[in-house]
Amino acid sequence: MAKMWAGRTSGITSKIADDYNSSISFDSRMFEEDIAGSMVHALMLASKGIITEDEASKINEGLTSILEDIKSGKLEIDLSAEDIHMFVESVLTERVGTVGKKLHTARSRNDQVALDMKMYVRKEITSIEEKVKGLIAAIVDKADEYTCYIMPGYTHLQRAQPITYGHDLMAYAFMFERDLSRLNDCKKRLNLSPIGCCALAGTTYDTDRDFEAERLGFDGVVLNSLDGVSDRDYLVELLSCLSLIMVHLSRMSEEIILFSSWEFKFIELDDAFTTGSSIMPQKKNSDMAELARGKSGRVFGSLMGMLTVLKGLPLAYNKDMQEDKEQTYDAIDTVKMTLDVFTPMVATIKANEENMLNAAKKGFINATDLADYLTKKGMPFRDAYKLTGMLVNKCIEENKTLEDITLDEYKKSSDLFDSDLYEEISLKTCVERRVSKGGTSFASVKEQIAYLKDKLGL
Ligand code: ARG
Repeated sequence: MAKMWAGRTSGITSKIADDYNSSISFDSRMFEEDIAGSMVHALMLASKGIITEDEASKINEGLTSILEDIKSGKLEIDLSAEDIHMFVESVLTERVGTVGKKLHTARSRNDQVALDMKMYVRKEITSIEEKVKGLIAAIVDKADEYTCYIMPGYTHLQRAQPITYGHDLMAYAFMFERDLSRLNDCKKRLNLSPIGCCALAGTTYDTDRDFEAERLGFDGVVLNSLDGVSDRDYLVELLSCLSLIMVHLSRMSEEIILFSSWEFKFIELDDAFTTGSSIMPQKKNSDMAELARGKSGRVFGSLMGMLTVLKGLPLAYNKDMQEDKEQTYDAIDTVKMTLDVFTPMVATIKANEENMLNAAKKGFINATDLADYLTKKGMPFRDAYKLTGMLVNKCIEENKTLEDITLDEYKKSSDLFDSDLYEEISLKTCVERRVSKGGTSFASVKEQIAYLKDKLGL
């Protein structure tokens, strides 16, 4: 059968070319946006006298029935149609007759697809924002529960200074809070309507772009028609936001995997979010966290893919742009799925206070505090640092901790040492004293929790 766009050519194409060209297998997910855009377009055409009110109602009745029938499964999407726009228009004409052919007046698929994609992405951003917020809420709850669980904090994955698990968790909460604000920025910036830009140059009809923009929930219209049909910046922005979400999920996954290993045993995942091995009966694997870490790759790939599609494209629309969809959809689906599994996994984490504390007792993570003790008593910090380093060395040789050294021994290396040193280097004191804003003290972590709860209305 000849294509709807037959004219200059016979419209008779090879099957291989049709398959290659077709986007309906994936862009059909925008059917609701496509129909919503068309309904408003019909209203606009009528309001400007380009078609009659009666014609607009017929078109919109037809579109409403198509929407309902697709939703209920009564109307199956015909995969031989080129894309969702052609499919809806052809079913419309079948249902309402010739008047259906008037819908595409003062419009092109170029501005139509730009509109559909923006509306689809806007809807998905809102849904992702909700999910990110849900994850933050779960993390904040855990941080509240584990505010006082002392564990080693690491740099270079070497034990560095004592922190609390609550403090560690809150670091992730803040990362995801930035992700939320980035998603929101992206949503705001994309929210200008491209419909009415037509193929590339605008139209000779007296249309009302603001009418359409307002009814479709946009803050205004794109002011250059060439830009309107060829802009996909917002997809690059979105994919970059999604990539960062995956970076954060992946970093958190890495800790979850490490912390739940036998070597650490700081936390235990609920059985519901782990797997066993087909051969090793003792195994409890953190596959969900590993998959979250692994799936970040495909989201970054989408970002690179999108940048590459756009680079070097001349104005205005080029069919290359159809390649914006699958990778965006895949990234959206991946992030949503990952958040869906991650949130309950985090919410059911059980931390092991004793193991965390035992690990914190080793590794001389109170060495900075011992150096600070001497500094507060008048020794220059560099000297205190050196002396403490020597004491640590001595402990390593004798298989001791800093707490094990007797006061007499301490006094041999400096007169400044007194019996109050033990209190000063106790892990609890080390944590409690780090009251600087954002620090690891119990009070500071509680403040961080209260801040985010208030800011996000949790
Ligand atoms: N399926 C196309 C896409 O996603 C719709 C726009 C087609 N426009 C065109 N001039 N062929 O980009």
